[in-house]
Amino acid sequence: MKKNIAVIFGDGIGPEVTQQSINVLNAVAKTFGHQFEFTYSLMGATAIDQTGNPLPDETIEACLNSDAVLFGAIGHPKYDNDPTATVRPEQGLLKLRKSLQLYANIRPVTTYPSLQHLSPLKAKNSEGTDFVIYRELTGGIYFGRKELNADKTRAIDECIYTEQEIERVAHLAFQHAARRRKKLTLVDKANVLETSRLWRKVVQELAQQYHEVAVDYMFVDNAAMQLIINPRQFDVILTENMFGDIISDEASVIAGSLGLLPSASVGNGSALFEPIHGSYPQAAGKDIANPLGSVLSAAMLLDHFELTSEAALVREAVDWTLKHNFVTKDIDPVNFYSTATIGELICEYVSNKVPGEFHQANVELRKSTII
Ligand code: IPM
Ligand code: MG
Repeated sequence: MKKNIAVIFGDGIGPEVTQQSINVLNAVAKTFGHQFEFTYSLMGATAIDQTGNPLPDETIEACLNSDAVLFGAIGHPKYDNDPTATVRPEQGLLKLRKSLQLYANIRPVTTYPSLQHLSPLKAKNSEGTDFVIYRELTGGIYFGRKELNADKTRAIDECIYTEQEIERVAHLAFQHAARRRKKLTLVDKANVLETSRLWRKVVQELAQQYHEVAVDYMFVDNAAMQLIINPRQFDVILTENMFGDIISDEASVIAGSLGLLPSASVGNGSALFEPIHGSYPQAAGKDIANPLGSVLSAAMLLDHFELTSEAALVREAVDWTLKHNFVTKDIDPVNFYSTATIGELICEYVSNKVPGEFHQANVELRKSTII
């Protein structure tokens, strides 16, 4: 198989974690006889620094011409603390989502037994959690009319949804639920918001087409609580843009490390794959960031190409590193390995170089000495 992958390293730890995914994809290509061509483009604070624009036209062009986009992270503190900044890194990502019509953001949340001790939840509540969030990504309050009056004392962010915008993401969520445990929870605020009442109506109508899927409805405030007290009850969660942004960060800590969670944003054309963590500027360039969120995003990219065995092998490699405590500093602050070492181990596993009974001592030598 021959595929063009547009790479956007982005900001902070974006480049170093994404590089591991590129290496893993190259190892997959070699092992399975595929051809992956990578093109590199700018977005975010890095793009502002180099071009003045958070999303140069060439980047949109490269992404539109690609089969998939592999993206690192976006954001820089110099913009976060300046509410008056008119050009912001995040505008790049929002514009790219709109330009590629990436209307569904998919964030799977699973737990790993070896990381249980890192979860803020008690084992009895979090063990066996396994759900997927479908977040609508190109509508709602993120993209509505924005206004600030002349004397800057009154601001407006409008939240708009159309039936068609709800339907297309809801179809994807229903289809996924049908392939899983057949339960879909719509998270909304229908007791207060008109847009939420439209979401309920559309989802109730669509449910007729998916008889095998049980649907329930939950207000977002209650959902925020249920995610903590009983996350196992969820199979597929469907929600609008802003609620999805908030609850997916909340859900991401259940597994024990934010650094582990991947995501896919899909639409009608090229899809985009990125770890859900941010740019973590304090760690940038230190080779300590966890590359697994990015590598697991690359596994979702392989699934998107329908390279199922390849994706499964990458996930197996990730499980193997975790099981043998080959982990980065966020997971074990004392005995940890560098970003690049974890990437190399995954590549070796994928390339079949890791024997069934491997020699821990050899890998020990690569343990990081940075404390
Ligand atoms: C995310 C991020 C983005 C969002 C930011 C960086 C604009 O938080 O992908 O969840 O709010 O969608
Ligand atoms: Mg977010």
